[in-house]
Parts: sequence; C-alpha cells; structure tokens
Amino acid sequence: MDNKTLVKEALAAREMAYVPYSGFAVGAALLTKEGKIYRGCNIENAAFSPTNCAERTAFFKAVSEGERNFEAIAIVGGPAGNPPVDFCYPCGVCRQVMAEFCSDDFTVIIGKSEDEFKEHKLSDVLPYTFREPDLHR
Ligand code: THU
Repeated sequence: MDNKTLVKEALAAREMAYVPYSGFAVGAALLTKEGKIYRGCNIENAAFSPTNCAERTAFFKAVSEGERNFEAIAIVGGPAGNPPVDFCYPCGVCRQVMAEFCSDDFTVIIGKSEDEFKEHKLSDVLPYTFREPDLHR
C-alpha cells in the first residue's frame, strides 16, 4: 500500500469527524500488516473530556476487531469544512496508544493533501517510550 492511498483514506475518514465544539476535523487511516485499513475520525462531546481523537478511534476499532499487527497510520487534520492547510501531528496520548500496539519502526504519515505528506517512524515522534516491560524493571 503506498502512502498516497493511505492519506486518501485518512482524508475520507476526516469527512466523518464530529467536531461541533472545536471545529477541527481530523482523519486517520490505520494499516494492518495484512493490508486491511481501519478509518477513524475525532468524536467530540459536550462534556469535552470524553472526546476521542481520530487516531485512537482507528486503533480502538482495529484492536476491538482482534487486530494486533500494524504497519502504518496516515493522519490529516485542520479546520472543518476545508481541506487541511497544514500538517497535523498526533497528540501525546495518541502517540502513547501507538506505542502500546506498535514497535519503534511503525510508520507515521502526516498528510496535508494526497500529494503532500511526510513520513516518520514512531521512534521519531515518541522517543524514550514507556511500554509493558518497563513495569517490571
Ligand atoms: N485531535 C485529534 O483527533 N487528533 C490529534 O492528534 C490532535 C487532536 C482532535 C481532538 C479534538 O477533537 C480536536 O482535534 C481539537 O483538539
């Protein structure tokens, strides 16, 4: 699967964002090692704290379907109603969720459009991780 295709999936996912409070729409497309894609959007709430980011929506959909092996995620975000004008990096909580289920070489693609995107490794966007083995040190 090429990066462009995954960014296009993230842009489609972004169309579903439920963002009446921030007006900031985010989409994510999570690719499993078997080639399946799970889409996610951000879902906000009047009580604010129950809000779920697009990346975590995609991960929780996939994990709840039994998926455990992930290759890459594409993320796009920006003011709702218009195409993204800038790169939207994942928040710290979403990076930590990625670290729970993905190794350091997991690919994080940040898109502005289907033709403009950057590719990183999880270890670049979240160095010095805290993972399960750290509980036993
Ligand atoms: N948001 C995401 O969906 N992903 C991120 O990584 C950054 C923030 C959402 C949460 C909230 O609905 C809106 O963007 C503004 O913070």
